[in-house]
Amino acid sequence: MRPPSYKAIVDELAAAIRGGGLPAGSRLPTHRELARERRIALATATRVYAELAAMGLVVGEPGRGTFVRDLSGYDGLEPSRALPVARVADLSFNQPLAQGQADLLRLALRELATSGGIESLLRQHPPGGRRHDRAVVATYLLGRGIDTVPANVLLAGGTQHALDAVLRGLTRPGDVLAADALTYPGVKLAARAHGLDLAAVPVTPTGPDLDALARLCELRPVRAIYAIPTVHNPLGWVLDARQRARLVEIARAHDCVIVEDGTYAFLETAAPPPLQALAPERTCYLAGLSKNVATGLRFGFAVLPDRHVAAVTGTLRTAGWGMPGLVTAVATGWLADGTVAKLEDHRRADAAARQDIARAELAGMDVTAHPASYLVWLGLEPHQRPDQVAASLAADGILVSTADAFATGSFRPHALRLALGTPALEDLAPALRRLREAIEAIPP
Ligand SMILES: Cc1ncc(COP(=O)(O)O)c(C=O)c1O
Repeated sequence: MRPPSYKAIVDELAAAIRGGGLPAGSRLPTHRELARERRIALATATRVYAELAAMGLVVGEPGRGTFVRDLSGYDGLEPSRALPVARVADLSFNQPLAQGQADLLRLALRELATSGGIESLLRQHPPGGRRHDRAVVATYLLGRGIDTVPANVLLAGGTQHALDAVLRGLTRPGDVLAADALTYPGVKLAARAHGLDLAAVPVTPTGPDLDALARLCELRPVRAIYAIPTVHNPLGWVLDARQRARLVEIARAHDCVIVEDGTYAFLETAAPPPLQALAPERTCYLAGLSKNVATGLRFGFAVLPDRHVAAVTGTLRTAGWGMPGLVTAVATGWLADGTVAKLEDHRRADAAARQDIARAELAGMDVTAHPASYLVWLGLEPHQRPDQVAASLAADGILVSTADAFATGSFRPHALRLALGTPALEDLAPALRRLREAIEAIPP
């Protein structure tokens, strides 16, 4: 019997992975074992795994072996959609990871395993976190210009969790929440879930239209203003000191809570002080470790004025009793030992490098982007339908978001939002080139 061609082995393994016969995390035979089992040359076995890796189905971990990748959810595409394409570039969701970060996790878990007091991770942590864990976050926040105390810091399972808890804790269904006409989609989800009336504030490439915000607050009883002053999602803006002062002045004049989202703020170290520093009496500052460390970690926090701490602690308790101890131990360990600071240095350089690539590949197109940001807002011509462009790119394995996802009101420009942080660096330029071709191929 002739040995099977390498292509037949690739097809067989790919079908087993897609069909679930080889579930995520399965360790595949070593190259040598595969060669022996299938009676093929070692170089052919290596080629089989290289092809499966290029299809995004397996990942090789040096010294450990080859494993089936988790294709569900945001880590790439659904398996059924991932199949026809050799390479996948997810430009729809930012989850930057430095090379070798898995090793940091291995090390942290090993250290935890041998540390004293590990039993405390099996006991219930209070809603908002233990005091000494909150203290670690408070110290970290000094580097962001936020001077607070552990009692005003509440830990949560990511920024979105903190946002949901703050909105639920501080508003009632029917309250008006002002948010940029284009903004982070998670605030729309939370507002809808809680029955809030989302009022869209017109945007410019350099910030919200603050005159329009002031008018809105005069006309309607705005309870809270959701703002991303530093490295906005999706437009990338960094508000200057005057804009920040004006926003705070409007919030004070109308007694609004400010919900400041600092998720991407670590990317711009030269930004003016956060709104929280200007108006600590009314600002709920939210951030987390998704973009600077790892999205899957699910660790975030809120800094709250005294008068709001009890209400938000209550909503955190309702949503999940307390913080997961293991995640908190890893996250606070990395905050305290400087790992987060190092990863943030890496991310700043990484984001800048990716913006350089985007600037070169998209030269001459209608790009709105901040040089420190991981995001690009790409305006399209009227005949270029964002949904058509997105569908054509998806068939090629390139995922993008359309403006609709970010729209809080009726302003839905013909535009795409590109998240540059997820693909391997070497895949970014080809993906953007393909994107440009797809857009320019649409006849006027
Ligand atoms: C502005 C903004 N806020 C919050 C989040 C959610 O962050 P987390 O993963 O910490 O919940 C994101 C994620 O993309 C974001 O862009």
